[in-house]
Amino acid sequence: MIDVSALEVSYGPVTAVRGIDLTVGSGEVVVVLGRNGAGKTTTLKAMAGLLPSSSGSIWLDGEDVTSLPAERRVERGLVLVPEGRGMFAELSVRENLIMGAYHRRLPRSRLAPDIDRVTARFPRLTERLEQPAGSLSGGEQQMLAIARGLMAEPRVLMVDEPSLGLAPIVIELLYELLADLARSGLTLVIVEQYVQVALGVADRAYVLDKGVVALSGTAAELAASPDLVDAYLSSAPQEAPA
Ligand SMILES: Nc1ncnc2c1ncn2[C@@H]1O[C@H](COP(=O)(O)OP(=O)(O)O)[C@@H](O)[C@H]1O
Ligand SMILES: [Mg+2]
Repeated sequence: MIDVSALEVSYGPVTAVRGIDLTVGSGEVVVVLGRNGAGKTTTLKAMAGLLPSSSGSIWLDGEDVTSLPAERRVERGLVLVPEGRGMFAELSVRENLIMGAYHRRLPRSRLAPDIDRVTARFPRLTERLEQPAGSLSGGEQQMLAIARGLMAEPRVLMVDEPSLGLAPIVIELLYELLADLARSGLTLVIVEQYVQVALGVADRAYVLDKGVVALSGTAAELAASPDLVDAYLSSAPQEAPA
């Protein structure tokens, strides 16, 4: 479904991603691990079209999308839930959800059924639809960010560090929601630093280090080699603190 080949991405003189190959099959859950600064966010942004690649290619369902603007990629179902969640804090939960469907160019009256369908997965959002997004807890904001991504009707949802700043019990809940989405057939690419919880939902994983793929394999293979994985994550938390 996604085929990233020899991807390179630079910030001016700084090359952050130096030749990454990565594939995502339809219906797969792929996790991208790696310590801070490894190039995870840069890779996702380049896949989403929010950063230009300096070389390499990105294919989606047999189409070369390497030079396609971000909006055109969203229209094709490639949707990013950004690191830090990107809420509009003053807008209501409902307004934030409506923004997620922006590219579909539907009148908002037509979006009511989608809001019902998406929030059915997130009861805590249903109760808070008219509240400002900024008044939600961190976990609820992450749920909103994912729900807003779903409003775009993704075929591939890329989620950057959903666990960031959340308590372990909230992380567990979020990953149950992500696992539910995967079971419903959605293809997921998840960037994480919490290895075990992420490998728990993943089919396959990549470990990035200094802008290259240091390690890759099935989630089971990587879960069975914790020392190897740890070697590339030494400065990252290995598991949610108790
Ligand atoms: N806007 C930017 N300008 C310059 N360098 C950046 C910028 N964003 C990220 N970098 C650098 O690119 C590298 C990869 O960053 P990033 O993709 O954010 O890593 P990760 O998401 O794995 O923590 C890091 O060395 C980081 O300092
Ligand atoms: Mg990042």
